[in-house]
Amino acid sequence: MAWKTLDDMDLNGKRVLVRVDINVPVADGKVTDTTRIDRIVPTVKDILAAGGTPILLAHFDRPKGKVVPEMSLGQIVPALSAALGQDVTFIDGNYGEAVGKLAAGDVALLENLRFNPGEEANDDGFAKRLATLGDIYVNDAFSAAHRAHASTEALAHLLPACAGRLMAEELSALDKALGNPDRPVVAVVGGAKVSTKLDLLSNLVEKVDVLVIGGGMANTFLAASGIDVGKSLCEHDLAQTARDIAAKAAEKGCAILLPRDVVVAREFKAGAANETVKTEDCPADAMILDAGPDSVAHIVQALERAKTLVWNGPLGAFEIEPFNAATNAAAKAAADLTRDGKLISVAGGGDTVAALNAAGAADDFSYVSTAGGAFLEWMEGKTLPGVAALSH
Ligand code: 3PG
Ligand code: MG
Repeated sequence: MAWKTLDDMDLNGKRVLVRVDINVPVADGKVTDTTRIDRIVPTVKDILAAGGTPILLAHFDRPKGKVVPEMSLGQIVPALSAALGQDVTFIDGNYGEAVGKLAAGDVALLENLRFNPGEEANDDGFAKRLATLGDIYVNDAFSAAHRAHASTEALAHLLPACAGRLMAEELSALDKALGNPDRPVVAVVGGAKVSTKLDLLSNLVEKVDVLVIGGGMANTFLAASGIDVGKSLCEHDLAQTARDIAAKAAEKGCAILLPRDVVVAREFKAGAANETVKTEDCPADAMILDAGPDSVAHIVQALERAKTLVWNGPLGAFEIEPFNAATNAAAKAAADLTRDGKLISVAGGGDTVAALNAAGAADDFSYVSTAGGAFLEWMEGKTLPGVAALSH
């Protein structure tokens, strides 16, 4: 797939509609993580530098086509202005009139597009209304590209369209990780449930050389191979599915790494008394909450042999200490290998990024995606409608 970038467009004197994803976490009216806002700054600045007027289009939360005041994008404006180092004009009514008053050098943000039912319906009429506000369309919202909405899909067909800096960066990093990677490729996939990642696992075993399975998901695979996982989180009804994925992996030459030793506890809480046992020795009244040190050594060995790593999901119950140990240790090893120039490491997904940040490893990864759901769909091998609409 090929797409245009900002460098291919004449932006001078143009009103540029820029789809961004500033769906950021907010607590007590304050943005608690500005990553997504910070990452769109280069696009906005480059448009300004080229003489264009950026008009930002975005959503916040899921108001389902109705005006929900608590979901106003107005509350994001202070953080956005701070990141850009200039005031942002917030437009919450009569779009046309307000846009007509913008001058060169201004940056504007429209109110939450999802207040209008036309946005999620990918409605042509709504997209046409948006199209009248600008001359050029830029999509910089990779993390919303799995949604076929008016501002991510329909609008791209109505104006000259291109990818913003962040979108281009995401697409090229992801291509290096799975599209056209240096081999061997290791994928680390963790998280609670196999059921949410079936398509992803099934796609990955065709593409990667080693698949590390961790977290609650690993229990389902262990149980499916006949190991007693005690009271562990486990989807026993997916045993056959897990065996099918393992068989497909064997057929495609993908090695699956499951935990060899595990950290078990009797209760799911921070600081719970725990012990490390061989995987096949999980006591009947205990639950597996993390991978053990032998497992980590095994994963690190695979990373040392690899050229590329793609990571989604924690290896244990990383949100409660000390059951974040395996995730932290493996993340640190990946970060070190990356810093030494031995590994290309790409990570994505909401929990994953939180876990890598907590491990202090995110900064050393080659690329950390801003995407949650879109990253998963991309790992599933799906075509993202927002990306497809940009290609020509
Ligand atoms: C996200 O936060 O993953 C994106 O902004 C998409 O939001 P959505 O899941 O509500 O479509
Ligand atoms: Mg989401």
